[in-house]
Amino acid sequence: MIHSIPQDTIQRIKNVANIVDVVSEHVVLKKAGRNYLGLCPFHAEKTPSFTVSAEKQIFYCFGCHTGGNVFSFLMQREGVAFPEAVRALAGKYGIEVPTEHLSPAQKERLSENEQLYRVNEEAMRFFQRTLIEPQSGQRAMSYLVGRGMTRKIIDGFQLGFAPERWDALCRKLQEKKVPNELMVKAGLVIPRKDHNGFYDRFRDRVIFPIMNLSQQVIGFGGRVMGADLPKYLNSPETPIYNKSRCLYGIHKANRPARASGRVYVVEGYFDVLAMHLYGFENAVATLGTALTPDHVQMLKGMVGAAGQVYLVYDSDQAGIKAAQRSVRVFEEGFLDARILVLPKGHDPDTYLREHGPDDFLKWADKAQGMISFIISTAINTHGLSLEGKVKVVAEVQESLAAVHDSVARALYIQQLAERLQIDENAILEKVRQATGRSTPHVAKATDFRERLEVNDGRRLEQQIVAMMLCYPQMIPEVLGRNLVDYFEDDQLRNIARMLGQRGATQQASAADMVSMIEDPRYRGLMAQLALEECHWDRQGCERFLSQFEAHHRRRMREDLQRQIEAAEKNKDTELLSTLLRKKQQQAGRGLINS
Ligand code: CTP
Ligand code: MN
Repeated sequence: MIHSIPQDTIQRIKNVANIVDVVSEHVVLKKAGRNYLGLCPFHAEKTPSFTVSAEKQIFYCFGCHTGGNVFSFLMQREGVAFPEAVRALAGKYGIEVPTEHLSPAQKERLSENEQLYRVNEEAMRFFQRTLIEPQSGQRAMSYLVGRGMTRKIIDGFQLGFAPERWDALCRKLQEKKVPNELMVKAGLVIPRKDHNGFYDRFRDRVIFPIMNLSQQVIGFGGRVMGADLPKYLNSPETPIYNKSRCLYGIHKANRPARASGRVYVVEGYFDVLAMHLYGFENAVATLGTALTPDHVQMLKGMVGAAGQVYLVYDSDQAGIKAAQRSVRVFEEGFLDARILVLPKGHDPDTYLREHGPDDFLKWADKAQGMISFIISTAINTHGLSLEGKVKVVAEVQESLAAVHDSVARALYIQQLAERLQIDENAILEKVRQATGRSTPHVAKATDFRERLEVNDGRRLEQQIVAMMLCYPQMIPEVLGRNLVDYFEDDQLRNIARMLGQRGATQQASAADMVSMIEDPRYRGLMAQLALEECHWDRQGCERFLSQFEAHHRRRMREDLQRQIEAAEKNKDTELLSTLLRKKQQQAGRGLINS
């Protein structure tokens, strides 16, 4: 790993960072025996197989075999490189990561993403300052106040204002010595067509900084204050901003959503702000996109598999479209959602300001599950005439086909048959056709675990590696007896050799050893093995190693005997003499007497 962060800084972070806390910001964890268990954030699953050990400071998923230490978790979760994961943790625990000692070349190597976060942070501060300054921000401030926003909300969400000038931000960033390419890469400025300089993307707009869970600014949204179009302008996709992987307000909503087991998904920036204003802090918004599988995983990370997700829409039409599109995404993410449609003409922002939070909750109580919602809106739309019924079935068959749980699906079909007064089998047939058309993606665990359970030899090899991880003192012993040469599993043999070569010290923790391995496949396996409980003492370890050795000697002897018999049968005298010599050698090394 090439990076420029001093080892002692990394060590200090390791000393204070607790993997359980860090993972808990992304996954709902429950104590289960010595470990913590939750739904894996790296693949879709219904029953938890994501395991975190506080004691060993590692995680491992028994479903998708991802594993590692606190740094690898953040790297995979946020899709960042090692130095960024270190810096994110350093920030969280208030540990300073020195950069002054870096040469200009090293500074340049500091990952690009991190530079983008910094530029965005600078830009956000500039927008914020412009908003609160009496002169420059006056119009924007009165716009926000006019929309009911308080100073607390404005500060809390770090809202800002981009002035009505072509290069206000650009100049500010140039003053701060930010390279032009970086501003462009961050989507903050746009090169002029004539290649003569740059201009600001956001001008004369109220600015909403968009943050990730770690409170880093990943992008911006900007709203005009008048009737110009487009009403909203957002950051373009950048290395750190991908709208299908972000939820506006998640940094504020995460804790309250976790505490209440409920999250509201609304459509717009102002909806999130209004929800907060009226005491619903567990609200996030998708930014003008349909919900993606990544969004669903993020929501599940907030509320857990049994959590309540309310998708709030401002009209039946928007609701039904979104619900139809989202059924499959939620089904595949193993998460349920309810659809909350507000009265005509209202979004959460206008509704809350007109009717207040109590009425809003009453609507929430009326929210239906996705499938029920799709069925009832289809019936409301098409009616129960003959043609209407045909249209209803046509409209809901795809959604029903997406339901994985066969019992739930059967119940929905039964319910629909009753409401339409038609034969259940007719609907079933349609749903089957729809199932055939679509190819639902079902998360499949690899056959790794099955293999593990049937293959005893491999099990023994695993136990030896687990022992090496659990008791590094045993590593010299394992290597000294050349036991690794007997390993039949390539992965385990490689891991065992690596543990030997990398000079795992006697004090190295399991997490340290896991983190020495860069290949994610190996790391996953290591984490799994490191999680195994070893209850042996030194004597027990020795006994186990001796048994393993004996087992292999016996097998080698048996193999050789078989080969000798075959050579005799084939009258292959040359081979026979070679094999007999080998047998003598084995005997000489004491291999035959065990
Ligand atoms: N949106 C966008 N670009 C647009 C229009 C909308 O990115 N041109 C996104 C914004 O995140 C917006 C959300 O879609 O907040 C919902 O859009 P809409 O319902 O049109 O706006 P509102 O949120 O109601 O905006 P406002 O209340 O400010 O009028
Ligand atoms: Mn609105």
